[in-house]
Amino acid sequence: MGAQRDNSGDLDGGGTAEQINLRGLSTDIASAMSGQEDVTHILQTCADTIVRRLQGVFTKIWILDAETTLKLAASAGDSAWLRGELTPSFVGYPLMVGSHVIGVIATFSPRPLDGDTVATLSGIADRVAIGLDRRGVGRRLYLQDRAIAASSNGIVITDPRLPDNPIIYTNSGFERMTGYEQSEIISFNCRFLQSGDRDQEGIHELRQAIAERRGTQVVLRNYRKDGTLFYNELTLSPVFDDEGELINFIGIQSDITARRLAEQERDELLSRVEEALAVRDRFISFASHELRTPITVIKGHAQLMARRKDVRENEHLLRQLGQIDRQAAAMDSMISSLLDVSRIESGQMSFLIADFDLCRVVQEVVEEMSVSRLDFTLDLDLGDCGELPVHGDEVRIRQVVGNLISNAIKYSREKREARVLVRREDSRAVVSVQDWGIGIPEDQHARVFGLYFRADNAAEGGRTGLGLGLHISRNIIEAHSGSLWFDSTPGEGSTFHFSLPVIG
Ligand SMILES: Cc1cc2nc3c(=O)[nH]c(=O)nc-3n(C[C@H](O)[C@H](O)[C@H](O)COP(=O)(O)O)c2cc1C
Repeated sequence: MGAQRDNSGDLDGGGTAEQINLRGLSTDIASAMSGQEDVTHILQTCADTIVRRLQGVFTKIWILDAETTLKLAASAGDSAWLRGELTPSFVGYPLMVGSHVIGVIATFSPRPLDGDTVATLSGIADRVAIGLDRRGVGRRLYLQDRAIAASSNGIVITDPRLPDNPIIYTNSGFERMTGYEQSEIISFNCRFLQSGDRDQEGIHELRQAIAERRGTQVVLRNYRKDGTLFYNELTLSPVFDDEGELINFIGIQSDITARRLAEQERDELLSRVEEALAVRDRFISFASHELRTPITVIKGHAQLMARRKDVRENEHLLRQLGQIDRQAAAMDSMISSLLDVSRIESGQMSFLIADFDLCRVVQEVVEEMSVSRLDFTLDLDLGDCGELPVHGDEVRIRQVVGNLISNAIKYSREKREARVLVRREDSRAVVSVQDWGIGIPEDQHARVFGLYFRADNAAEGGRTGLGLGLHISRNIIEAHSGSLWFDSTPGEGSTFHFSLPVIG
């Protein structure tokens, strides 16, 4: 039998009409599968071709979707005869990619299908499956199990076996994040997201990871379709097939712009705070060195002048010189407090540790202060505790005792008196300084040891101060493993206590 025109008008080689049709069918399917159209279009062409070549049949192709449900992807031919007298023949084949079923192709015929036709249809199923696999359909299905689970993140799958590792799949998260639709970017390399911003550490790392066939995580500056910048935290994972061949990369993208901006804001704030702290430290160091010198000179001159015979005879001048001396001393003490706070804040307060008797120290401080404040009575009660040996920095503990006593003096009222009590309670030495002064309002108790704390009633009667003494004292006591606390009733007075561990 010579060459014969088939019903599509193509010229085929020799054989029966049936054989020629089958050969034509295989060729047509091969050329349909090599087309550039999208998958749905190609599947429809396949179904149409089968129906055209095998007259009377109808064909359906189902593909598994992301939820692994079979969805009808193509259908051709008339199935009306199914309802008539004819007994149909049916051939169905799974579309397999590796060990995964990605769909089914089925052909129904009103007449029995011979062995050649069945074998040809089986070959067609393989050819369609290979074509789908090449387009990433099969892999996409089982990769989606992993990728889709990443929910609202952007997901990109690329095929490194194709030139320039193009995108073969993106999810809707990617579309939302970037503003690009899948159809616009499929078959492109992801680098279009970088716009011209190519000199990024993350990009170099990605290039290397891809070359080394390994996963990685980077943060990239990327640009949406509308040109706006977003920070993309990209997690890249390679996918290998059963033979160990690299078949895909999966990229999971998170838009971390808000986090990045918050981090930048925090970093800026931190550096501003650091700058402010540096300015403060510079000021404090300036204050300590540059202000102290003139204060010492002022004090020295005031004291020298007070000793001059003509001055000693001038009561008014003597009082004024006394004031200069006291104010200069107050200024010196404020500078010391500022320096102490700065040391506490920077964790640089150092202590000269030795064993000493707390009873002796308290007694000495009380005596010194009694001499300088003759208008005030300091009542010292050492009980019968004898020596109270403690381990610490004697100068700093003196500072605490001095601070508590000067507060008692400063905040006293008519009763110009304070009581200092030293005792041993189990393994601790406790010192209490009690006054009958203005007291601290209850609503301010929680802030007493804070920086720059001054109770609302503290300024009454022209009382001045920076509000640093108690903050410094508590830090000193706590650095000695002790505690500092108080009881206070407004209008009745306050008692400040501190305790330190006794040695031995
Ligand atoms: C799965 C996958 C996802 C990727 N996603 C992005 C992305 O979201 N943004 C980006 O700037 N680059 C992304 N890349 C990186 C680029 O495609 C490219 O590999 C990178 O720019 C380095 O290569 P190049 O120097 O050839 O551009 C991705 C790469 C892969 C394999």
